[in-house]
Amino acid sequence: MIDLRSDTVTTPSEGMRRAMSAADVGDDVYGEDPTVRALEVKVADLFGFEAALFTVTGSLANLLAVRTLVEPGTEVLCEAGAHIARAELGAHGAISGLTMRTWSDPRGHADLEAIDALVAPDLGPFLVRTACVSVENTHNFAGGRVQPLDTLTGLRELADRHGVTVHLDGARVWNAHVATGASLAQLATCADTMAVCLSKGLGAPVGSLMLAGADEIAQARVWRKRLGAGWRQAGLLAAAGLYALDHHIARLADDHEHARLIAKAAGAAVETVDTNIVVIQTADAAGLVERCRQGGVMVGAVGPRVVRAVTHLDISRDDAIKAAEVIASALRP
Ligand SMILES: Cc1ncc(COP(=O)(O)O)c(C=O)c1O
Repeated sequence: MIDLRSDTVTTPSEGMRRAMSAADVGDDVYGEDPTVRALEVKVADLFGFEAALFTVTGSLANLLAVRTLVEPGTEVLCEAGAHIARAELGAHGAISGLTMRTWSDPRGHADLEAIDALVAPDLGPFLVRTACVSVENTHNFAGGRVQPLDTLTGLRELADRHGVTVHLDGARVWNAHVATGASLAQLATCADTMAVCLSKGLGAPVGSLMLAGADEIAQARVWRKRLGAGWRQAGLLAAAGLYALDHHIARLADDHEHARLIAKAAGAAVETVDTNIVVIQTADAAGLVERCRQGGVMVGAVGPRVVRAVTHLDISRDDAIKAAEVIASALRP
């Protein structure tokens, strides 16, 4: 089976497994795991933040980050298809006590005019106050779209003008970096807090990080433990992340090339494929998924008429060519 359901399905390579088994470890709740510390310092430096916190998932990194920026009873603005709004199962409301309002953009971009109109000032007992704007780069449900750099700069200016904070869900920010050539630090300058994932395009089995100032990370460390997600010899997993950072960033360009190849065969608009996600519109998503499966290719239905194919580390060029043929044939009437 060629599995294009998600870039989270990769399994660790031999080199990554060797790095994991050789890792120096200690108890991370005591702050004594040297490999976790090394990963946190490295990733904070890459993005220009004071500090970082290693977490089990991107959802947890988002949850901890956003909750350091908002008080219960305030709101976050985000795009309607944002992962924090649609796919984190209401955690931000259920756990952090915040509400969300959204703008819509088919590319998942931060629509500065719409955000400007949505931001609610502090009106005391009358309206919910906007505390934070959250953006996603790349935007998953929009099909791996990249946020333009000048939009991110504009968002920072807008947030400062309104006295609100910015969270960046950078689960796949590595793909945005490779697709645009902008440095990781440049992509992060708009944000007060950020979440990044090692377990997607970078191919680590587990792990994400929250990035922020040192005080916010100290608060998040307490909340991580409160939520039962403190971990002990997590250096085994951090070592996989360090290996992924050293070996798997530049090669994301191959995934992007493979995605364009698949998009072309599927008749999808290639110019909308910024990175490693192809969105295919079809009358019957479940039917297309089944026909692809019969041809040896797994893709995912993300709506009744939308199918998603995601390229990744375990998909070779030959796999992509074969998958493109199967998808094209499954689309034929
Ligand atoms: C944009 C985005 N943010 C956050 C996450 C959450 O990551 P995790 O599955 O590790 O919780 C995902 C997962 O696909 C994602 O696509």
